[in-house]
Amino acid sequence: MASAAKSAVRETPGNFVEFSQVNRVKDEHLQRNLSTRDCWDGYAHHRSVVTELLVRSSRSDDGALCVLGAGNCNDLDLQKLLHTFSEIHLVDLDDEAISEGVNRQLPGEQPQLHQHGHCDITGVTHLLANWSADSVPTNDELDACLAELAQVPQLGLPSNFDVVASVCVLTQLFDSVVGTLGESHPRFVEFITAIRTQHLQLMLNLLRPGGTGVLITDIVASTTLPQLLTIPDADLLPTISRAINERNFFTGTNPAILESLFRTHPAIAPQVTRIRHSPPWRWQLLNKVHAVYAIEVTRR
Ligand SMILES: C[S@@+](CC[C@H](N)C(=O)[O-])C[C@H]1O[C@@H](n2cnc3c(N)ncnc32)[C@H](O)[C@@H]1O
Repeated sequence: MASAAKSAVRETPGNFVEFSQVNRVKDEHLQRNLSTRDCWDGYAHHRSVVTELLVRSSRSDDGALCVLGAGNCNDLDLQKLLHTFSEIHLVDLDDEAISEGVNRQLPGEQPQLHQHGHCDITGVTHLLANWSADSVPTNDELDACLAELAQVPQLGLPSNFDVVASVCVLTQLFDSVVGTLGESHPRFVEFITAIRTQHLQLMLNLLRPGGTGVLITDIVASTTLPQLLTIPDADLLPTISRAINERNFFTGTNPAILESLFRTHPAIAPQVTRIRHSPPWRWQLLNKVHAVYAIEVTRR
């Protein structure tokens, strides 16, 4: 097992976002995590694909891994990951989900595991939480929030990670906009675009030069693509490609758009040298199946 003493990451100053007592966006994520807390067995295939991807992305056996959206850690085989990474930093809004998830897998003191609960990786959740159909934000409030999203948030996390993984958190970030601003708002797409760009920039900022970002995202669920429940694995890619052509996928997750951001966005592309897509796989989530894929990028 890799040693905790050889720290590959650098501590940087930063601010944890303080939450007001009432933050309905955060509460919604906490409730979702409670509903999936006992899904360890159902996540087995998803966990094995995610863990393998992260192990494969590591270039050494004592690197540092950062996981954005770690939640219950049901999609991470922590024991296996600790054979590859000397430090693992688990980041989420939900402090309790992380600590219970870690305790379930590895009870007792784990000096190599660093828990960053209460951490809002967008820095704007407290602003979104004020908005609803009954409390529509003004254009000035929207502009102020977009100005925040144009910055990469200072999360008080170390930098210089060998691998940074985003584990199905992107769609949850989008969902926070759906549940507050609403999909029919004229500036909805602007917000989805801003959150997505900020998230890719955050991943790259946390990486050391030559490190690997692994963006894992769910793209469509069996609720709108019921074939996911029955088709053989060999049909998964063509079925998802057809769904994308028919615009049947989660807003903001089109792999072609994500790839083009990594290739051409002026604030992102200069930091990226290599882009690879993984084949899609299925994730059993309660009574639904989600299709998931990953894009791996190397930081220049
Ligand atoms: C679909 S879950 C990921 C699955 C999780 N790794 C597991 O095994 O349970 C998405 C996670 O993103 C977290 N999340 C949502 N919005 C967030 C934000 N703004 N900042 C940090 N984490 C967030 C949720 O709390 C949740 O744990």
